[in-house]
Amino acid sequence: MTSSVVLAAALAAKIVVAHRGASGYLPEHTLPAIAMAHAMGADYLEQDVVLSKDDVPVVLHDIHIDTVTDVARRFPARKRGDGRFYAIDFTLAELKQLAASERFDPRTGAAVFPRRFPVGKGSFQIPTLEEELQLIQGLNASTGREAGVYPEVKEPAWHRAQGRDISRIVLDVLARYGYRTKADKVFVQCFDEAEVKRIRTDLGYKGRLVQLIEGGRPLLDEHKHLRTAAGLAEVARVADGIGPALPDVVTRREDGTLAATSLVADAHAAGLVVHPYTFRADALPPGGASLEDLLRLALVDIGVDGLFTDHPDRVVAFLRRP
Ligand code: G3P
Ligand code: CA
Repeated sequence: MTSSVVLAAALAAKIVVAHRGASGYLPEHTLPAIAMAHAMGADYLEQDVVLSKDDVPVVLHDIHIDTVTDVARRFPARKRGDGRFYAIDFTLAELKQLAASERFDPRTGAAVFPRRFPVGKGSFQIPTLEEELQLIQGLNASTGREAGVYPEVKEPAWHRAQGRDISRIVLDVLARYGYRTKADKVFVQCFDEAEVKRIRTDLGYKGRLVQLIEGGRPLLDEHKHLRTAAGLAEVARVADGIGPALPDVVTRREDGTLAATSLVADAHAAGLVVHPYTFRADALPPGGASLEDLLRLALVDIGVDGLFTDHPDRVVAFLRRP
């Protein structure tokens, strides 16, 4: 086999995970963003999941809802003492009354990503996890192309402090939709190390599981040990892969050029796949590299097994898939 054939085969096995749907083009975690990501050819579609007041798993990145909805205008009296609005304080019926939006800073109203879909425009709702699974499975049926799901259990310890077991609820929904084993197109992900172990052991989840690694925020670096050989070996006892932040995989040399860290090789040595987050065409690391430069480094030179991206069309095109 020629080297180009080997490379093409290696690239064909990489997975493209649409981060919060096609969030570079439509408000994150909305059903249109999911449909667009599916149409763009993403292999997996991500759901960040939190609970409503009536224990319905809904697809939202944060436990707060004031960065992606008009809750401050619709329910001004429902903020907590810290001035924030929490999904868990609202029933599903109430959450459905909110207009979902492109992400913004609730103090200023300014868009987090200024060149994306305009803040406050369009007609979008917060989806439930079930609505999203039904949409994806429907598109899988109607297009004949099976995209997988990549749900993240958000803030399990915080939910437990509110008296809720979010992991159990999410796994129950996944099981009802046929996502149970390693043969199913699903990866469950979580930042909480103890919860990843609990999902595998106490809750008996048999599907693929990914330990997310906090990155890019040195003051919150409670996951430092997960980047060591011993830490990765510990992760491999329960999980199938890791989801590190991009700076944990690609670092900058003193001359400004980009280079690999040892994390991917170390994780592979421990038998773990690696799916770093987040590749964004409009938020590239300093130094002038293009998204495609970054993809070449990560996918070809470093050999990550897949990646999270806000721009799945660009990664699918890079991999030269139809
Ligand atoms: O889950 C992978 C990636 O999405 C983690 O970052 O904060 O976007 O959920 P976050
Ligand atoms: Ca996530």
